[in-house]
Amino acid sequence: MDLDYEGFKKNILLKTGIDLSKYKEAQMKRRLIALREKRSFDSFSDYYQSLSNDRNMLDEFLDRMTINVSEFYRNPSRWEVLEQKILPRLLGDRLSLKAWSAACSTGEEPYTLSMMLSEFKGITNFSILATDLDEQVLEHAKNGFYFEKAVQDVPNVKKKRYFSKQELGLKVSDEIKKHVTFRKQNLLSDPFGKDFDLIVCRNVMIYFTEEAKAVLYGKFSKALRPGGVLFVGSTEQIFNPGLYGLESEEPFFYRKK
Ligand SMILES: C[S@@+](CC[C@H](N)C(=O)[O-])C[C@H]1O[C@@H](n2cnc3c(N)ncnc32)[C@H](O)[C@@H]1O
Repeated sequence: MDLDYEGFKKNILLKTGIDLSKYKEAQMKRRLIALREKRSFDSFSDYYQSLSNDRNMLDEFLDRMTINVSEFYRNPSRWEVLEQKILPRLLGDRLSLKAWSAACSTGEEPYTLSMMLSEFKGITNFSILATDLDEQVLEHAKNGFYFEKAVQDVPNVKKKRYFSKQELGLKVSDEIKKHVTFRKQNLLSDPFGKDFDLIVCRNVMIYFTEEAKAVLYGKFSKALRPGGVLFVGSTEQIFNPGLYGLESEEPFFYRKK
């Protein structure tokens, strides 16, 4: 056992509430060693000593351990399935929808959902809770500004309808923003809401250990209303959904029984 790294994990848990032992170890350690070496520290204990007294270093650490890459309409064919198959079934004869984008990063995912729901026929009211561990990405998300390159895959009609042009990029309109509430939340330690019709949790589970994932699947299932759906990332199939009271509805979509 690497006592130096074990001590670092304990200190980080005490200081930030982030439990690094729930993230896949080899991957996380490799990333943090690279960061430590960039800062010229030979051990995690020396690195922690500095980090604990330096807000910039702490932010740099948080930025490195949370991988924030996101895209509008990430894996477009999955969003098509959501729009054409899942939403019509989910809504049935309801007029409203309560959704959660868990680990939403810089906001592309909840805003994609908000654009889609805004055009969905028959729906009169919807809310999207969007959460992430990282305060910096949440600030970016709330602001809703994106450089041109980040919105290149948004269809032109939607760009025109839901974004306003700024000098260096585009800003999401208030009409789309008003449905989304951003909140800081650690999926591994904070409580979950309930009665969601739809939970979108994509491209974060891959970083967690199998044990942590199993706990999370159970908690997501509890947070859904019966018939509600968990939408996961395109490499994140759940092996045995029945264990958590879920069943596969379409690839990457799990319905609460
Ligand atoms: C790769 S991004 C995924 C963004 C978006 N869901 C998507 O698929 O495009 C992963 C996000 O998970 C967040 N994250 C990592 N660990 C987390 C945790 N324990 N609780 C909540 N969010 C976490 C990171 O801050 C990051 O923004």
